[in-house]
Amino acid sequence: MRHLIVAEDLTAAEIEAIFAISRDLQEKYAAGRRDALLPGRVLALVFEKPSLRTRVSFEAAMTHLGGSSLFLGQDSGFASSRESIADFGRVLGGYVDAIVCRSKSHETIERLADVAGVPVINGLSDMAHPCQALADIYTLRQEIGRVKGMTLTFVGDGNNVARSLAVVCGLLGMRFVLAAPEGYHFDPAFRRHLAEILPEAEVEETTDAAAAVTDAAAVYTDVWASMGQEQERAERQKAFASFQVNEALMARCPDAVFMHCLPARRGEEVTDGVIDGPKSIVLPQATNRMHLQKGLLAWLLGHAE
Ligand code: CP
Ligand code: NVA
Repeated sequence: MRHLIVAEDLTAAEIEAIFAISRDLQEKYAAGRRDALLPGRVLALVFEKPSLRTRVSFEAAMTHLGGSSLFLGQDSGFASSRESIADFGRVLGGYVDAIVCRSKSHETIERLADVAGVPVINGLSDMAHPCQALADIYTLRQEIGRVKGMTLTFVGDGNNVARSLAVVCGLLGMRFVLAAPEGYHFDPAFRRHLAEILPEAEVEETTDAAAAVTDAAAVYTDVWASMGQEQERAERQKAFASFQVNEALMARCPDAVFMHCLPARRGEEVTDGVIDGPKSIVLPQATNRMHLQKGLLAWLLGHAE
């Protein structure tokens, strides 16, 4: 049994296997076919934070695969004083075949995975957003043909999304550049971890966004204040003011596509002109969450050892 808590839980070969299943299912879906690979299987979604894409893409994916899903929000009592995470996870794991968890704390998802007895998938934590990063690189390959040897420049906070992207890029041979103001780069512990698990990975950090995008095949951004950081919003708006992805920045890399995990704060980290512009691939990114996660579910519940 396998979990997906961080992107580095997968090898490059496993990511390629998941991409291949996703591609096959995506093509069949486009042709009107929905292969019931997981009949009767149940997926639970345990969420401590809001979600549109992660929740709906997993629920739709599970239905297309012939299974079903159930959403457990705050009223389930997860990670509250109602009962321990161990009791919650052991009981839930007895009812369902897999769990997607979105939590305020990465450690909560790890504790759930330790006890659940079924695969646990991280649907976003403060540390990582592996499903997002996998769907993003899957999308990028569809859009630009190949990712190996290309550069993805992330202009913004060294947050959950940036971390997972750095790992998936490192695994698949893509150069990753983080352009962020001082104080918002990767923390030293994550940098050490990356160097240890992916010594060959090309991961660079800079404060110069204009220089960082010049050789980018893709420019990516995310909100400056993530869910749970709302009280830092004013301070972050100041710190990130010169890191907006706007037409002037994108003019430095006219061939690059624009990416965003969404939801976006238009007028802050990105302008309308860029996110709605001809180089934006944010909608295929969002749609591919469903296709990629179908491949992931089929792999985790069918193929993974
Ligand atoms: N990108 C993403 O995970 O979106 P949601 O927060 O809507 O799930
Ligand atoms: N970094 C964002 C991603 C949302 C999908 C957050 O954590 O809120």
